[in-house]
Amino acid sequence: MTISVAVAGASGYAGGELLRLLAAHPEFEIRTVTGHSSAGRPLIESQPHLRSLAHLTLGETTPEVLDGHDVVFFALPHGASGALTEQLTQVGLAVDCGADHRLTSAEDWAAFYGGEHHGAWSYGVPELVIANGDGTFGRQREALIGATRIAAPGCNASTVALSLAPGVAAGVIEPRDIVSVLAVGPSGAGKAAKTHLLGAELMGTANPYAVGGTHRHIPEIQQSLRRAGAREEPTISFTPVLVPMSRGILATTTARVVPGVSAAEVRVAWERAYADETFVQLLPEGVQPRTADTLGANTCLMSVTVDEAAGRAVIVAALDNLAKGTAGAAIQSANIALGLPEDTGLSVNGVAP
Ligand SMILES: NC(=O)c1ccc[n+]([C@@H]2O[C@H](COP(=O)([O-])OP(=O)(O)OC[C@H]3O[C@@H](n4cnc5c(N)ncnc54)[C@H](OP(=O)(O)O)[C@@H]3O)[C@@H](O)[C@H]2O)c1
Repeated sequence: MTISVAVAGASGYAGGELLRLLAAHPEFEIRTVTGHSSAGRPLIESQPHLRSLAHLTLGETTPEVLDGHDVVFFALPHGASGALTEQLTQVGLAVDCGADHRLTSAEDWAAFYGGEHHGAWSYGVPELVIANGDGTFGRQREALIGATRIAAPGCNASTVALSLAPGVAAGVIEPRDIVSVLAVGPSGAGKAAKTHLLGAELMGTANPYAVGGTHRHIPEIQQSLRRAGAREEPTISFTPVLVPMSRGILATTTARVVPGVSAAEVRVAWERAYADETFVQLLPEGVQPRTADTLGANTCLMSVTVDEAAGRAVIVAALDNLAKGTAGAAIQSANIALGLPEDTGLSVNGVAP
């Protein structure tokens, strides 16, 4: 039986990537696509790369249009989905790619986003290591089985949380004094026109932004590290840098190694966490991830190295912000919720060079 799907925000970047992946998914049938300023226009005008979906027209993003589908994916600006999703009465599974349902803390929501807080849904990063509270550890995928409401992650937040959770859970790195610097492509900021995202402002230069603890993904990372069993309140200095590549994130994150822990013990924590994972892969020692190898793929590629002189673990992680960072994570999580094989419709192969 095919599963009927609607995508809200289908004219944007995340919506476009959802549709690209959903079009190749054997169990899902894309019935409805909606937009905002582009409602009423053919989808192909906004997404000219999606040739197989040329028959679709963008509808209005309203509860009436979205209700009645088995699954609805939301890819709206943050603040736009919270109230809308509360009005749905006949949707089996809703997956929100925006931030509205990621944070459990209303204080964090108020401090970093503002406006009404709509509460947290099951977090859509299946591979995240989660402390069970009794000294054992599981994975976030266990919370996604049978879920009816899922919050897909922030792309930078999931990259950094996946980078750190194994070491935090194993107690081999300290959760305070973490430093993360990320090279990020401008598609992470969405399709709406902004002067600082013009080609002339981006080509041939690297532009830092949200410097000094203001980026909205910081509380989301802290929340994930608490769930991984952080023994003290996580602190993170987080600096993204826009670089001239359309998609992709390369996050270099360093954390203090707990005194007395060896480099081998550090590496074992990541090997154990990801040995059985399809989509989060620890690379052989000495091999560093490249963004190009993750483009279009549902993978996060990672290296772990100990800088003995600095006493720090250095974790480098690459993923495609639109694939594993958003749409891929959303579809992987939906697969789990619906009881489908987790990798249905998702690929580990990137597009390089
Ligand atoms: N881009 C990424 O890499 C990425 C990664 C992780 C999460 N996300 C999240 O995904 C969501 C969408 O991001 P995006 O990058 O795809 O943004 P985008 O390219 O700007 O697309 C936004 C979409 O929302 C629609 N929209 C705009 N204002 C609206 C409103 N007031 N009410 C209803 N719909 C509205 C737009 O429709 P029209 O074009 O028709 O006006 C468009 O379809 C955001 O919450 C973002 O944080 C994005």
